[in-house]
Amino acid sequence: MRMTTAITTRLEEARGLDRPASVLRGLVGRVPAGRIRDIAHGVPIGHPVHPVLVQVPIGAWISASVLDFVPRTGPASGVLITVGLGAALPAAATGALDWAQTHEQQQRVGLVHAAANSVAVGLYTASLWARLRGRPIRGRLLALTGLTAVGVGGLLGGHLAYRQATGVNHAEQVPHVVGDGSRWHSIGLLSALPVGKPVRRFVGETPVLVVRGADRVDVLADRCAHLSGPLSEGEVRDGRVTCPWHDSVFDLCTGEVVHGPATAPQPVFETRVDGDELRVRLPGAG
Ligand code: FES
Repeated sequence: MRMTTAITTRLEEARGLDRPASVLRGLVGRVPAGRIRDIAHGVPIGHPVHPVLVQVPIGAWISASVLDFVPRTGPASGVLITVGLGAALPAAATGALDWAQTHEQQQRVGLVHAAANSVAVGLYTASLWARLRGRPIRGRLLALTGLTAVGVGGLLGGHLAYRQATGVNHAEQVPHVVGDGSRWHSIGLLSALPVGKPVRRFVGETPVLVVRGADRVDVLADRCAHLSGPLSEGEVRDGRVTCPWHDSVFDLCTGEVVHGPATAPQPVFETRVDGDELRVRLPGAG
């Protein structure tokens, strides 16, 4: 096993991180659900905001360290470090909100990711202070050390996103595994479905959520786009389904996200009834 993989695997299994994670989760949980939280998750743009926001501090701090090797650019480096420090706060806040609604293995790695970035913020603050006090060499060394901490944080952020699939669309594969989008698939008898209750059926091996209403049937991919929670075990009310794992809310008719933490919509199947047989297809699949 590669060294980095061995380290991240140990972090995923480090139960000693669960206690501080629980404390931090409690603090983050004080942010009320609603519009602000949805914006912070990235619901309006359809994917998490955090990876976008982190570009600013990382870019500013890398640029500051590059300028530190260019003569007579000390003031510009200081400005860039200040910009990075200012941008770190919203980046951390959005990351914390996303983090609080993940699996425990993701939270363990996320906690160390946050700690590395917090160390970086401390080092860049010290770097700025040293520069303001007329100690540029010390300021440059602190900035380089801060950049190392940012690198560690970035490595763990990559592990969270690409290895642990945090923040990605967990329903993305559905159109690809369902197959031919023009073909209708039978998923059972309409009369066998309870009215107003979520039920799981299968299109091939793909689980789908089926909700029979008074005058329509809604069929969505069952695995929640956030982290694959089973929507068929969620609550259905007012034309919406709430995921049982982290309370994402989806519109049953359109699949759109009403409330996060999910940011990507659920694939919605077209339905038709032949006799008593309910058939579905997913337009665009294949
Ligand atoms: S799995 Fe997290 S909200 Fe559905």
